[in-house]
Amino acid sequence: THTLNLAVIAGDGIGPEVTAEARKVLRAALALDQVELVEHEYPFGAGHYLETGRILDDEDLESLRQHDAILLGAIGGDPSDPRLAGGIVERGMLLKLRFAFDHYVNLRPATLYPSAESPLAKPGNIDFLVVREGTEGPYVGNGGSIRTGTPHEIANETSVNTAFGVERLVRFAFEQAGARPRKRLTLVHKKNVLVHAGNMWQRIVNEVAKEFPEITVDYLHVDAATIFLVKDPSRFDVIVTDNLFGDILTDLAAAITGGIGLAASGNINPEGTFPSMFEPVHGSAPDIAGQQKADPTAAILSAALLAGSLGHTAAAARIEAACRADLAARGSGIERTTAETGDAIVALLDAEPAA
Ligand code: NAD
Ligand code: IPM
Ligand code: MN
Repeated sequence: THTLNLAVIAGDGIGPEVTAEARKVLRAALALDQVELVEHEYPFGAGHYLETGRILDDEDLESLRQHDAILLGAIGGDPSDPRLAGGIVERGMLLKLRFAFDHYVNLRPATLYPSAESPLAKPGNIDFLVVREGTEGPYVGNGGSIRTGTPHEIANETSVNTAFGVERLVRFAFEQAGARPRKRLTLVHKKNVLVHAGNMWQRIVNEVAKEFPEITVDYLHVDAATIFLVKDPSRFDVIVTDNLFGDILTDLAAAITGGIGLAASGNINPEGTFPSMFEPVHGSAPDIAGQQKADPTAAILSAALLAGSLGHTAAAARIEAACRADLAARGSGIERTTAETGDAIVALLDAEPAA
């Protein structure tokens, strides 16, 4: 294709600041391959909800669906605002999109670039991929509360795990592991306590493993996995895990690979029935919003994943290389604005040969 038809949901807080840079970089990288970026902006987010009362309806979904991919900044407003209580926008917009567009793969690479600063004493060579389930688990909203607000309240949050949903995710994870040099896959769960779901995840991993004899498979309880992520992260290659464990592990993965400002992700519908959605792992960061303090690299690397997912592999490689080069060129302690970082990365695009 010679155009990329992109939906942009800049969102709230630092979302608009970081997506502005990601769009700049994506546009420039695609132009080097004679691909034109056509963008359509959507206003969804907490701010839009407070102004209009609208979150995301079926018409919005239909409109978003017409695009090749979605670039999302971040959503979420002031956590103390009672009008936003209960994650109304997170659930009504972000999770609604992941569910409606069947983004069952939440792909979150964790790579320690040579010049990024890890807080670990001995980080080693960190380069793993978290394949997080995106449409099931406790995120589906299957639960309820009775005797609400009383001392006798019972609040249930049911984790939904289907054999269909787990198997397609696990197979995707094995395929990813097969394409990587180390060919290792680790299932992370809590099957010593969450036995019903845990046993099913393990059984499905064992079954799918038979189709991939070249891959070395192991298992870790999620609590132990957090120890290894801090003490020996280079042991990981591909981690496959459920929606909630994956959420928590990927903030930790970000922290050990240079910080949340560098962590990219993709909400993928591998079949391409629906557009995939790319977003930084981080949120709207209300504490630094509007100050040009956010690092746009996570959003920019998410745009690289986006380009790669649509077959623009040269542009994707160029963006990643430019981010790498920018990290190497950054002096420690030098303050830059969000836009200055974006500009620096654009400037490095041409210098880097496409891989
Ligand atoms: P957060 O990721 O927004 O912020 C956590 C910490 O990381 C803050 O100190 C923040 O300043 C810092 N940080 C985040 N991104 C950064 C960047 N690019 N550069 C530098 N520092 C950065 O997490 P939170 O505070 O738990 O959540 C804030 C809001 O965002 C909530 O409403 C939450 O629901 C929402 N959220 C949205 C998404 C999303 O849209 N995908 C993801 C996570 C959280
Ligand atoms: C993320 C976020 C979301 C999640 C929230 C905002 C619903 O934390 O993308 O990691 O938990 O998936
Ligand atoms: Mn998260």
